[in-house]
Amino acid sequence: MERSLTMEIVRVTEAAAQSSARWMGRGKKNEADDAATSAMRDVFDTIPMQGTVVIGEGEKDEAPMLYIGEELGTSSGPKVDIAVDPVEGTNIVAQGTWNALAVIAIADEKKMLHAPDMYMKKIAVGPEAVGKIDINASVLDNLKAVAEAKNKAVEDLVVIVLNRPRHTELIEEIRTAGARIKLIPDGDVAAAMNTAFDDTGVDILMGIGGAPEGVLSAAALKCLGGEIQGKLVPSSDAEIERCHKMGIADLDKVFYMDDFCDGDDAIFAATGITDGELLQGVRFKGSKATTQTVVMRAKSGTVRFIDGEHSLSKKPNLVIQP
Ligand code: FBP
Repeated sequence: MERSLTMEIVRVTEAAAQSSARWMGRGKKNEADDAATSAMRDVFDTIPMQGTVVIGEGEKDEAPMLYIGEELGTSSGPKVDIAVDPVEGTNIVAQGTWNALAVIAIADEKKMLHAPDMYMKKIAVGPEAVGKIDINASVLDNLKAVAEAKNKAVEDLVVIVLNRPRHTELIEEIRTAGARIKLIPDGDVAAAMNTAFDDTGVDILMGIGGAPEGVLSAAALKCLGGEIQGKLVPSSDAEIERCHKMGIADLDKVFYMDDFCDGDDAIFAATGITDGELLQGVRFKGSKATTQTVVMRAKSGTVRFIDGEHSLSKKPNLVIQP
């Protein structure tokens, strides 16, 4: 992949975050998502690449923009797979709470998992615990393994879990094991990323979230040297059929890092829409907006935090038209 794409996709997540952030706390998650999607779409059109959306806003007939299979870019340049989540955490933006992100991952053509829009059981850790987790093992065994790898007691660990009724048993098992828990209302991509940053105080992600978010998390963790494992959790006959159509006969199949994102490269960018542990959300003042973005590349292992200051008077539509 071209190194220059790293900076190009930052422009895309920054634009999406700025557009969506205007809807913060206004109780309108669809409007927040539409604003980000449309901004992403506009900026993608200025990037020299031949991209195909593999994780997007939905199937072609259900999403007007950034649908699966949509081609993005100026039709010259490298051929890449693109995974987008213009607003990861639409309810978070609607309520103005923590950790909403505008997210993009790109990989070489045909290297990224075309994950169906259904649930996925996930376990994710940062670099210190790579190779120590096993999604088929018990919660206690995983916690013991991560604690040993991080030279901590199980009681010192913090497990991040989406606060959902489906996790009642999981939460009970974690509590019985003695580990601490951080329950979050939404946003398991930020949660997975946070396992790779000591300062966030999060050691391991467990539980069921979206499968597309699993691919985005895998791209981030590939850049950060962490690990995620996943198993699809189809919840209807139609979803089971969907898995079979994708060639997944064994519903117990475990997706490992290379299944999510194959090859030695991937680029990932996330801009904070609302404040989070890692990234500040968008701030507006007069004709200025500020953004914070993390952008990273698997091949080089470079992780950059970028503070952006944007002139809303010079770029009212977030893009300078050529
Ligand atoms: P959206 O931005 O699409 O609302 O997703 C937020 C999210 O919390 C994801 O981070 C997570 O993977 C998924 O929803 C969990 O799904 P559900 O809300 O159905 O439990």
